[in-house]
Amino acid sequence: MEVKINLKEADIPRQWYNLAADLPTPLLPPLGPDGKPIGPEMLAPVFPMNLIEQEVSTQRWIDIPEEILQILYRWRPAPLKRAVNLEKHLGTPARIYYKDESYSPPGSHKPNTAVPQAWYNKQFGIKKLTTETGAGQWGSALAFACCILGLECKVFMVRISFDQKPFRKIMMQVWDANCVASPSNETNAGRKVLAEMPDTPGSLGIAISEAVEAAVTDKTGKTRYALGSVLNHVLMHQTIIGLEAKKQLAIAGEKKVDVIIGCAGGGSNFAGLAFPFVADKINGADISIVPVEPESCPTMTRGPFAYDFGDTACTTPLLAMYTLGHAFIPPPIHAGGLRYHGMAPLVCQSIVEGLLKPRAYHQLKCYEAAVTWARTEGAICAPETSHAIVAVIDEAQKAKEEGKEKVILFNYSGHGLMDLSGYDAYFSGKLIDYELPQQDLEKFTAPLANLPKAEAKKTGKW
Ligand SMILES: Cc1ncc(COP(=O)(O)O)c(C=O)c1O
Repeated sequence: MEVKINLKEADIPRQWYNLAADLPTPLLPPLGPDGKPIGPEMLAPVFPMNLIEQEVSTQRWIDIPEEILQILYRWRPAPLKRAVNLEKHLGTPARIYYKDESYSPPGSHKPNTAVPQAWYNKQFGIKKLTTETGAGQWGSALAFACCILGLECKVFMVRISFDQKPFRKIMMQVWDANCVASPSNETNAGRKVLAEMPDTPGSLGIAISEAVEAAVTDKTGKTRYALGSVLNHVLMHQTIIGLEAKKQLAIAGEKKVDVIIGCAGGGSNFAGLAFPFVADKINGADISIVPVEPESCPTMTRGPFAYDFGDTACTTPLLAMYTLGHAFIPPPIHAGGLRYHGMAPLVCQSIVEGLLKPRAYHQLKCYEAAVTWARTEGAICAPETSHAIVAVIDEAQKAKEEGKEKVILFNYSGHGLMDLSGYDAYFSGKLIDYELPQQDLEKFTAPLANLPKAEAKKTGKW
C-alpha cells in the first residue's frame, strides 16, 4: 500500500469544473443597490471581463490555459496521502485520505486561484491588483502570483492577523507586495471605521471595502480587485483539487468515497475538493459532504439564508448566502481565515438543497485535533485546517463504533508554520471557547430585514 499517491504532470486536469451547470436549483442572482439583478458590466470596474465571464458562466467545463498549467506545475498535481498513522492511533477501520495543499510555495490552496486570477487580469491589460487578507494566506498567495506574473500587488490585512502573524507580512514583502493593516488611513472606508472604533481588530468585511475602494478609485483604470474565496470563479479554480483527488483515489483502488470534509471560511478549499463529488451526489452517489466552520463564526450553522453585502461598507453587490450580517465582527480566534460573515453562494445553495451538511466546532477541540495530527502524521496544520481534522477524527471514531470500513477524504488546506503563535496560546492555556450569543446574532442580522428577501428554493430530493 502506498501512502502517497502522486499523479504525473501529464495527468493534471485540463479543465475546471463549474457546479453552476449542475445545481438542481439555480443560484439566486447577485443584486445591485436598486434590488435588481446586476449585469456583468456593473462588475467591470472591479474585475476584468474575462473573469466576470467565468463568474456568470453556467458552462460545465472550462479549459485551463496552458500558461496557467505551466505555473501550477511548480507544485501540482498535489499528492493525495493516506493518514495511516492517525488511523492506527484511532484504531479505526476507516481509510483516511487527504489532499495535501500545503505543498504550494505560499503553503496553502490559495495560489490555485491566485495564479489564474493574476493571469486573466494580465491578459486584460491590468497592471496592479488589490485585495484583502485574513490570516495572510490569501495575501501571500496573491503576492506570489503577482510576483511570478509581473503585476503590482497591494494587500489590506485584517489588523488582528497583521499583529498576530508578522511572518505572513514578510512573505508578501519578499514577493514584492505592499501589505498594510486594515482598517487603514489609506481609504475612506478605513478612515470611517477608525474614527468610530479606533481599537477594532478589523474584519474581512472592512478589508474588502478598503481593497475594492483602492481598486475602483485608481485613476489609471489599470487596477482591479481580486477576491480569495466566495465567488463562483474562485471556487471553480479550486476544483482542480477534487478532480485530481478522483484520479488518485482510483489509483489507490477506492471505488467509493463515503465522507468528504473541508474547513470553510468563504468556502473555496472545501468547494475545490467537494464540488466534483457533489456532481456525483446529484447523479445519485451516496456521499456525506461536510463543510466545517468555527462555533465563534457560525455562518452556515446559525446564520439565516439571506441577501447580504459581501463587505462592511455595503459597496459589493448583494449575494444570496448564509450570513451573520455584514457588520459582524468576529472575536479574535486564531483561525483568521474562517472569520468571514458570509459564505460562497454556490456552497450555500448546495446547503439549501440538502447536498451538504455543515458542522461547527469550538477552537479548543480543533487545536487538540491539530496536536493529535502533528503527533501522529507529523505535519503542523494551519488553524483553519484543524477544523477539518477534528471532523475527520469524529467520523473515523463513528466508523469504529459502527464497525464500518468507511473511506474519508479531506482537504489539508495549508500548513501552520506561520501560525505557531496560535499553538503557543493553546499550550499556555490562553485560548478559550467562544459561542456567539444569540442576542449578538440577532443584533447583527437584524439589518437584513431591510434588504431584498432570498427565497431558499430546493427540489426536496436530498
Ligand atoms: C489554510 C487555510 N485554510 C482554509 C481557509 C479558508 O478559506 P476558504 O474557505 O476560502 O478555503 C484559509 C483562508 O485564509 C486558509 O488560509
